[in-house]
Amino acid sequence: MNTLLVGAQWGDEGKGKIVDVLTEKHDVVFRSQGGNNAGHTVWIGPKKYVLHLVPSGILRPGCICLIGHGTVVDPLSLVEEIKGLHKQGIKTKGRLFISDRAHVVMPYHRVLDKGREAAAKGKKIGTTGRGIGPTYNDKASRVGVRIGDLLNKQKFTVSVKERVQEVNKLAKQNGWETVKAEQVLKDYLSAGKFLSGYITDTAVKVNELVAKRKKIMFEGAQGTLLDIDCGTYPYVTSSNTTSAGLCTGSGLAPNRVGKVVGALKAYTSRVGEGPFPTESQDIADMLHALGREFGATTGRARRCGWLDGVLIRYAAIINGIDEFAITNLDGLDTLKTLKIAVAYRLGNKTLTAPPAAIEDLYACKPVYKTFKGWQSDTTKIRSFRKLPRNAQIYLQAVEKIAGAKIKIVSVGPKREQTFSV
Ligand code: IMP
Repeated sequence: MNTLLVGAQWGDEGKGKIVDVLTEKHDVVFRSQGGNNAGHTVWIGPKKYVLHLVPSGILRPGCICLIGHGTVVDPLSLVEEIKGLHKQGIKTKGRLFISDRAHVVMPYHRVLDKGREAAAKGKKIGTTGRGIGPTYNDKASRVGVRIGDLLNKQKFTVSVKERVQEVNKLAKQNGWETVKAEQVLKDYLSAGKFLSGYITDTAVKVNELVAKRKKIMFEGAQGTLLDIDCGTYPYVTSSNTTSAGLCTGSGLAPNRVGKVVGALKAYTSRVGEGPFPTESQDIADMLHALGREFGATTGRARRCGWLDGVLIRYAAIINGIDEFAITNLDGLDTLKTLKIAVAYRLGNKTLTAPPAAIEDLYACKPVYKTFKGWQSDTTKIRSFRKLPRNAQIYLQAVEKIAGAKIKIVSVGPKREQTFSV
């Protein structure tokens, strides 16, 4: 069966590791939205791999990896990532395919991203600065350039020159850095040459693979609450991070996909600005002191808090989550008591789903259920039965609140620190 893996929170749920574990049962891994704003850290034995756009399936020999038309691709960063993999002895030729229709992240998209953030003052989104929003903006405005265009020097040159002129005009008006078209053309056309052997129609490719009964694993990036439609707008990313988004971004029709797995952290974290009803400085301090919760892409310390049952229940509904994979359970090992938000109070109303208006979400006060901590090391445990009783109670409560079974538990960063329930 095909599997769609989505983040059930604000990203950084440990999806890279879950994909790595699930890849064992799949032949193909497909990344179909987002760009190099994502960062996956995967540990295999003593080796650490950080991936941004290349699906983590690349770390399993023989696994085919696709980057679909729903993604936005920074070719220079992708070339670096591929070369880094080659240096670590990982082969990519004939295993990695990039959609000719994916939109290209250009240096002027980063200028726009950073410029808008700097000008936003109190209304910053806290983006990764990778130019993701402006690239999707150009795509929707129909002035973008696509990966296939890198192979057509004349077309690419005309498109880039036009857009550079427009963006430089805006940049000069706002005092932002400007971009040199000639340098951009040189760098990007050379990256295009490097990538040419990887570029194809990934929508056709995935359907051919499905026809051959290959099992596909869709690797969602970011998380449900960062979805452009269903997330905490405007503090979201610019793609559809939910399960349906993985269909549009890949070209595999909804009636061809299989089960949906939601990756979930045992607590909550968020990077960037925006509302976070269950945020707790105490939890953040405790996790940061353990060296945990620093972003793989930007190195930023993540904001942390209690598990939010309202949000994960919402994620379960809109993604159609069949089962959860819960990660970072060991991050809670030292706590005496734990809390899970089961509802919000907004004025005199009780809410069981997040409100649409951001100002309402800021005003929501979580209603908590309290649990006893287990205060013991879970990192060496490999079965649900062996978990401390209070950890079992906590996980059972998560299932009840979110409305889906937990099938995978992760108790550390290593491949082997995972077990099925
Ligand atoms: P952008 O995707 O760079 O435009 O950033 C928009 C929001 O999404 C910011 O709050 C980012 O911190 C957040 N974001 C983007 N990618 C990730 C990710 O991979 N993990 C967690 N947060 C992310």
